[in-house]
Amino acid sequence: MARGLQLGRQLGFPTANIPLAEERPVGTGVYVVRSRLADGRAFFGVASVGCNPTIPKTAPVLEVWLFDFDEDIYDQTLSTELLAYLRPEEQFASVAALIDQVFADAEEARRYCKDHGLRLT
Ligand SMILES: Cc1cc2nc3c(=O)[nH]c(=O)nc-3n(C[C@H](O)[C@H](O)[C@H](O)COP(=O)(O)O)c2cc1C
Repeated sequence: MARGLQLGRQLGFPTANIPLAEERPVGTGVYVVRSRLADGRAFFGVASVGCNPTIPKTAPVLEVWLFDFDEDIYDQTLSTELLAYLRPEEQFASVAALIDQVFADAEEARRYCKDHGLRLT
């Protein structure tokens, strides 16, 4: 993964940015994810696929917020499964509205993992 604009960290949700090769990726939107690091550790999280229209990026990315994780993983491989689709990408009227929605997404993603008895192994 690569360094993003690093706004996510300031907004309260540090994210890993994985550049996508596709100019117009299929399946843009927000997903519940399970990601694995090269050392084998796995984490649940929530991710967006697309160009993030509110604070536009130059190119499409997979942007992952891992739960219960706070390490610098720049330049490491992060294998990510998209487990469930939550919603389409939205252009928000304000950054505050975007932050509120991302935290709501995270809550929904945690609930999904719990309700479906998903495991990290
Ligand atoms: C779970 C999740 C959902 C997101 N949903 C949207 C969205 O609907 N619309 C949008 O413009 N950006 C969305 N974003 C992207 C944020 O705009 C992004 O985190 C912000 O631009 C900071 O990016 P940076 O950390 O690369 O600087 C989402 C990010 C995450 C992690």
